[in-house]
Amino acid sequence: MYKIAVVGATGLVGQKMLEVIERKNIPYDSLTLFTSARSAGKTIDFQGKQYITEELTEEKANKKYDFVLMSAGGTTSLKYSPLFEAAGSIVIDNSSAFRMDQDIDLIVPEVNHPQLNRKIIANPNCSTIQSVVPLKPLQDHFGLKRVAYTTYQAVSGSGVAGRNDLINGAKGEAPTNYPHPIYNNVLPHIDVFQPTGYTKEEQKMIDETKKILNLPDLKVTATCVRVPVQDSHSVAINVTLDKPATVEAIRSLFEQTEGVVLVDDVEHNQYPLAIHATGKDEVFVGRIRVDESLENSFHIWCTADNLLKGAALNAVQILEQIHQQNHL
Ligand code: A2P
Repeated sequence: MYKIAVVGATGLVGQKMLEVIERKNIPYDSLTLFTSARSAGKTIDFQGKQYITEELTEEKANKKYDFVLMSAGGTTSLKYSPLFEAAGSIVIDNSSAFRMDQDIDLIVPEVNHPQLNRKIIANPNCSTIQSVVPLKPLQDHFGLKRVAYTTYQAVSGSGVAGRNDLINGAKGEAPTNYPHPIYNNVLPHIDVFQPTGYTKEEQKMIDETKKILNLPDLKVTATCVRVPVQDSHSVAINVTLDKPATVEAIRSLFEQTEGVVLVDDVEHNQYPLAIHATGKDEVFVGRIRVDESLENSFHIWCTADNLLKGAALNAVQILEQIHQQNHL
C-alpha cells in the first residue's frame, strides 16, 4: 500500500491521474490532493471518499510520500519536486522542468526503464510519448536515421485555459490563453519561441526523442501546431530507417507491439482519428506508406489521447514500472 500525493489535482491531467489510479487499482492507503491556494479546500469525490484539497507549501513538501504525481506546471515543479525528493519521495513529474537533466530519467515504459539515480522521474512531452512508442520497434528492427515530426495538438494540452479558449472562441469571445483565436484557426506556435526560430515545444520533441531512444546522434526535426480539437494529439511522423523495410513489415511489427493499435485500411477510410483515440490508452498508427523522396523512408500517422498516454497514463505506468522493478 502506498502513500500517494497528486499535485495539481484540480487540473485536466491531475483529474486523469486520479481516474487512472482508480482504473488500474493502484494500491494506496493514503491519498493527498494538492492544488494552489486558489482551489485549496475544495472537495473531490474519489472512490467513494471525499478528499479536501490542500494548498501545497514547502512544509508539506518536506513530508515523505511513496509517490508524488506532479502536474502543476514547470514553476511549481522546479520549486517543490526537489523538496519532495529530499524528503525521500519518488516524484513523477509531468512538467518539462527536469526532463533534460543528465541524471534524471525520462521514461516511456514501453521504451525504457528508470535507473533511479535521482528520485525525480520525468514524464516526457505529450507528442513525444506517443511518437516514440511506435518508433521503438522500428529502431529495434531497422535502426533509425532521421525523424521529422509535424504535430496537430489538441487544446487540452494547454490545460483548462486552452480548453476555455476553444469553447469561448466558438461563442465569439477573444482568447485569453493563446495569442490568437484557436477556434476556426490553426496556430503554428506551441510554447515560447527560441532564438533558433523553433518553439520550445519543437525543441522538446527533438531533444526528448533522442534521450528516450538513447540515440544522441539521431537526426530529428519538428513543427508543432495547435489545432481546434478538444482532446487527442495527431502526429505525422516521417521516418528514415537505417535498413530497408516494407510497409507490410512495418504494419506487422506494429500489430505485435504492446500499446500500439494499427488502423490502416484506407479502402474503407480507416485510419487513426483523434476522436477515436480520446479515452483510450493505446497509440494508434496508420496511413503507413513509402516516402519516395528519400531512401528507406516512410510516413506514419499517429494519434493518442494527450491527457492519457501523453500525460496521466504514462505517469501512472511509470509508477507501476517502479513497483514491478521493486526499486522501493
Ligand atoms: P488550481 O486549481 O488551484 O489552480 P491545468 O493546467 O489543467 O489548468 O491544471 C493546473 C493544476 O496545477 C491545477 O490543479 C492547479 O491548481 C495546480 N497548480 C497551479 N499552481 C500550483 C501551485 N503553486 N501549487 C500547487 N498546485 C498548483
